[in-house]
Amino acid sequence: MIQIENLTYQRGSRVILDNINLKIEKGEFVSLIGPNGAGKSTLMKIVLGLLNGYKGTVLIDGIDHRLWVKRHNFGYVPQKESFDPLFPATVSDAVKLGLMKRRLFPPRDAKKRTAAALEFVDLCGFENRFIGELSGGEFQRVLLARAVAADSDYFFLDEPEANVDKQGVSRLYSILTRLKEEGKTVVNISHDLQTAVSASDTIVCLNKTLHSHTKPELLSAEIVRRTFGNAVRLLEKDHV
Ligand SMILES: Nc1ncnc2c1ncn2[C@@H]1O[C@H](COP(=O)(O)OP(=O)(O)O)[C@@H](O)[C@H]1O
Ligand SMILES: [Mg+2]
Repeated sequence: MIQIENLTYQRGSRVILDNINLKIEKGEFVSLIGPNGAGKSTLMKIVLGLLNGYKGTVLIDGIDHRLWVKRHNFGYVPQKESFDPLFPATVSDAVKLGLMKRRLFPPRDAKKRTAAALEFVDLCGFENRFIGELSGGEFQRVLLARAVAADSDYFFLDEPEANVDKQGVSRLYSILTRLKEEGKTVVNISHDLQTAVSASDTIVCLNKTLHSHTKPELLSAEIVRRTFGNAVRLLEKDHV
């Protein structure tokens, strides 16, 4: 379980996150939505111990999150993966490198874990392909395979649908749903509202403050409008 209590984060005098209180249960599939600049990525980075200087408390499985991330593996697919697609690594290498970074497994397990993870994300037969040759969706699945190989109970994804076509997005979400069915906790930042709503147990609407934390079927147009503010008006204009 992830417990976020009274979390406030400022950059200089600017408040980025304002008194966030949020509980994510074990095995829950939660999607975080909100406009650009709402603080979604910031919140995820804080939970993962990648940003300091916040006020408040973050606990994972009952212990301080900074301690938790030192002791446990977790899957994290960042918004902008720094992996250079021109770097001449194969799909297998990319997954293995991710494992080696964490050093929580004996190296002799790497091959077996990599193969199992690639199978899980439907990338059998892609082992020797260069990552620079992959489609957006395939590349995201490689990143997901890295997370799967780490064998964590928690998966954090920051807009995994970026640069992925429609079919790729549904494929990605079916893998995330399978993770959830295995009892994993999935924390997903999404800009694909429709897909997020259909896949998630819970939708969290964030825009500096928490606007709503609810089951997808209870998410109203009014809540979405309030969360997205002017951004939604722009969207509506585009579509008339
Ligand atoms: N490295 C940074 N330096 C200064 N401001 C930042 C930095 N990263 C994010 N911000 C600011 O923090 C706010 C929240 O950003 P972010 O968490 O990336 O939002 P989201 O992921 O919801 O689009 C934005 O206003 C952004 O401009
Ligand atoms: Mg972001």
